[in-house]
Amino acid sequence: MEIKKIAVLGAGQMGNGIAHVCAQAGYQVKMRDIEQKFIDKAMDTIRKNLERGLKKGKITEEEVEETVGRVEGTLSLDDAVKDADLVIEAVPEIVDLKLKTWKEVDEKAPEHAILASNTSSISITQMASVTKTPERFVGMHFFNPVPVMKLVEIIKGAATSDETVDAIEQVSEKLGKETVLVNEAPGFAVNRLLVPAINEAIFAIQEGVATVEDMDKAIKLGLNWPMGPLTLADFVGLDTLLYISDYFVEEFKDSKYRAPALLRKMVRAGWVGRKAGKGFYDYSGEKPEPLTF
Ligand code: 3HC
Repeated sequence: MEIKKIAVLGAGQMGNGIAHVCAQAGYQVKMRDIEQKFIDKAMDTIRKNLERGLKKGKITEEEVEETVGRVEGTLSLDDAVKDADLVIEAVPEIVDLKLKTWKEVDEKAPEHAILASNTSSISITQMASVTKTPERFVGMHFFNPVPVMKLVEIIKGAATSDETVDAIEQVSEKLGKETVLVNEAPGFAVNRLLVPAINEAIFAIQEGVATVEDMDKAIKLGLNWPMGPLTLADFVGLDTLLYISDYFVEEFKDSKYRAPALLRKMVRAGWVGRKAGKGFYDYSGEKPEPLTF
């Protein structure tokens, strides 16, 4: 079956990036969120990110307009999924919310649709179990910023069929991405390493080992990371990191994955990183300013 229509659930940081790359690859996209202001913001972001390529002469104005024209925002889940060939869910990383969303999608999406979650860590098998077609359920994990990052992790749940994996490989290739196939495990391959590494940097800040600026500089220059771990934490979102850490502790039953108290405190304060204007850096000025802890 050829995939032509894609529903993207959630218009946040990941959702708008996924909608962007799908539309740019020629798919017809319906992007769903629960408030119009989230959809408006996502449409603005998609246009701005496409215009980066326009300024550099990598795409034409016509391609920008055509791509934006292929994304339709909607507040209705029914409208988003009713004729979708592929549903990609990118709602916040909260187990109950994901399960509730998938139960609703299962009632409204066509039988043939492939169901893919962009979860950062949560069990594919658990989400698949609330649908009637667990063989068509798969993990499709993108990385931020989606238009730039080359990887899609494809995650196989207990019942995911080979046909479903093949279909997602083909879509990923059409999006210009490379794929790796991972068997289900909390955090899959990338976040299993990334989240403990970022947490360790936050523990070090908490213990006064180095300043935010120096910790970032050390890892950027010492390990050749494109961003230091605290800049990356702000970029990914501290709320997402906390959800993943708590989920790891619950799933692995191992306290080595515990979140630093500083991370929890910052999330409680609403300082969840770049999207909130404040995290380990303050983004209100022209240039991010590191905070002191
Ligand atoms: N949309 C489209 N294009 C973008 C973009 C965006 N949001 N952000 C940057 N770009 C483009 C720029 O236009 C530029 O394009 P060019 O090569 O054609 O000139 C290119 O990307 C590089 O951008 P910049 O020159 O502005 O800046 P940098 O060279 O500093 O790169 C970065 C920015 C690509 C974000 C780089 O800092 C980086 O790779 N950071 C690490 C990102 C990372 O680790 N992501 C994974 C996070 S983990 C995750 O997402 C999983 C989740 O489950 C937690």
